[in-house]
This record gives sequence, C-alpha cells and structure tokens, in this order.
Amino acid sequence: MLRGRDSGKDGTMHAPGAFADMVALREAWHPVAFGRDLADRPVHADLLGQPLVLWRGQDGQPRANSDLCVHRGTALSLGWVNGDELVCPYHGWRYRADGRCAAIPQLEDPSRVPAKARIGAFGCQERYGLVWVALGEPRWPLPEVPELEDDTWALVTAGPYRWRCDAARQVENFTDFGHFPWVHPGLLGDPDRPVVPRHEVRTEGNVLHYSIVRPEAANTEDFPVFGNEQAGPPERRSRYELHLPYTIVLRLGWGGERGMVYFFASQPVAADRSAGYVIIGRNYNLEQPDRVIQEFEDTIFGQDQVVVESQRPEQVPFDLAAELHLKFDAVAVAYRKAMRALGLASSAPAGTVGAPRA
Ligand code: FES
Ligand SMILES: [Fe+2]
Repeated sequence: MLRGRDSGKDGTMHAPGAFADMVALREAWHPVAFGRDLADRPVHADLLGQPLVLWRGQDGQPRANSDLCVHRGTALSLGWVNGDELVCPYHGWRYRADGRCAAIPQLEDPSRVPAKARIGAFGCQERYGLVWVALGEPRWPLPEVPELEDDTWALVTAGPYRWRCDAARQVENFTDFGHFPWVHPGLLGDPDRPVVPRHEVRTEGNVLHYSIVRPEAANTEDFPVFGNEQAGPPERRSRYELHLPYTIVLRLGWGGERGMVYFFASQPVAADRSAGYVIIGRNYNLEQPDRVIQEFEDTIFGQDQVVVESQRPEQVPFDLAAELHLKFDAVAVAYRKAMRALGLASSAPAGTVGAPRA
C-alpha cells in the first residue's frame, strides 16, 4: 500500500517527507552477491529494482548485465556462459560483457546483428569476497579495509540477511546503540546498563566517524566470539566508519592486541527490500570454527529482523521531523543529514524516490 501520499496544489502526486533516492543511489557501489556464490553459471540479483545477471568471463572477473534478453525479455540468468559470452536460454543469442549481442543463430549470417540488439552493462568488481555493482558512475571508491586483505587475519562471512525493509533501515539498525540491551540481552548488551555512552559523530565527505566505549555482555558459553576476558563486566571499544550510503566498517578492541573488524554492507534490492552481507575479521582465536561466529550472527540478525521489519514506514524517513530523535540517536541524525546533503535521499515527486511499492 502506498503510504501518506497526497495531492499537491498543481494536482500532481507528491510523497511527503524524504526517502532514499533510487536514482541517485545508482551512482554508488553496492554488494550484490558473495563472490563464492558466482561460479561458472550465471546468477540473478536485484539492485535498486533493476534485475541483473551476474557471470564470470574467461578471465574469471565478474560481469553485470541487465537480466533481460532484448529479443523476448527472457531472463538471461537462466542461460549459460560460453567463453566470454553469455547465451540466452530461449533462442541462443550471445551477448558480450559490454552488452552487445555478438551472434543471432537464426540468421544465415549470425554475426549480422542489428545495432539495437544490446542489453545494459554495468560497472562490476570483486573485493572483500563480494561482487559489487554500480549502475551509474560511482561517486566514491570502496572503503579501504586492510585487515580483510591481510593473511594473518581470519575471515568469516555471514548472511546475506534478506529483510523486508529498505537498506537504510538495515544500516541504521546496525548503528543503533540504544537497542542492544533490549533486543540482544546477554549477547550484545546488558539490560542492567542501558545508558548509551556519550559519543560524537564527525562527518567527512561520505563517511561518518564515531567511536564508543560501551558496556557489553560477557562472552557466553554458547557464543565465545569476542576478545574480552570472561571475568567482570567487560568494556568494548568500537570505532565506526559509516560509508554512505550503506557500508559500515566497525573495528572492535578490548585495550590489547586483539582486534576484530565487522564489515557490513547492505544491498538495496528494491525500495523496500534489502540484503545484508557480513564479513568479520579477527586476529585471535584463529582456529575457531566459522560456525561459532556464523551462528552468533544468525541469532543477532534474527532478533533484529523481527523488530526492524515491523517499523513503518519500511524506509528510513530522512526528514528529521518524521521521527523523534534524542541525544543518544546522534548517529541516526548525522546519517540522515549526510544522506540528504549528498543527494542520496530527497523529497521529490512520487515515483522518483523509493516509496514503498503498491
Ligand atoms: S528471448 Fe533471448 S534469444 Fe530469444
Ligand atoms: Fe541489533
């Protein structure tokens, strides 16, 4: 159901408030798959409502094209890869990475391809174990996270967590300090210590920087994942970088050599759908089986999903007047201001911003 629409004086429909701008978001890198899930068969992904086919060419590099054959609209992700070409499953037309159709087998001379026979081609790269796509010219490079490319760190992946909300809701949940004792008691927070410590947010370009020393739950026997000692109420130092629009780099420390990096990136699948990818690096407990952290993340994200999917609207309203913000919501406030300042969220006539689908 479309929410909160009204008619302007000129009779056109306007969406009140401000939401993520689906057009502006095309000019940024977004994760679309774990690299390991893209092997020798094409794979489908959705990005900002655009259906994509992902595939690997002869050089092993990932490619992204629109998942729609120009002939009859068939999903090319149902086809296959032949050398450096993607083959449509319906009539065997063959496409190159640049989107040009290279051959139409039904023609006596299959290479006499009309110029119109092409599909969309998009920027695509693989880094940190993820395939990234930009539908337009990306305004910023990917964040630099040397720990994730350092052989002495152990890496674990979790997700993708597919939620019925926009990517901004998923990102905000990750950055929200106030909910830890309530949604994750005993795992990420201590209900007896619910006060959010003071913190300042510094905005530089498209990156918010902030850090916090906060009380946390002790490691549990079920999930001994963190680097703190078991005894006493532990304190954790968390240094955050929120790279707009939807990527978070969180570095955790406990005052010693032990370090952990949480890398979280949310895929804006559609205006009201997201998929969260998690990559966790650590320089301790190197032998710990992956499933310990993975089961912990599945538990945490499962607790969050129920709450976040209940939020209305399904998208973060970037107008500060739309929700009630208190001092400890400083990150949410800075995020909303920066998203608007960079044009990644805007108030615009209905249909041009990502309002929930009918
Ligand atoms: S629909 Fe793709 S080749 Fe005909
Ligand atoms: Fe949470």
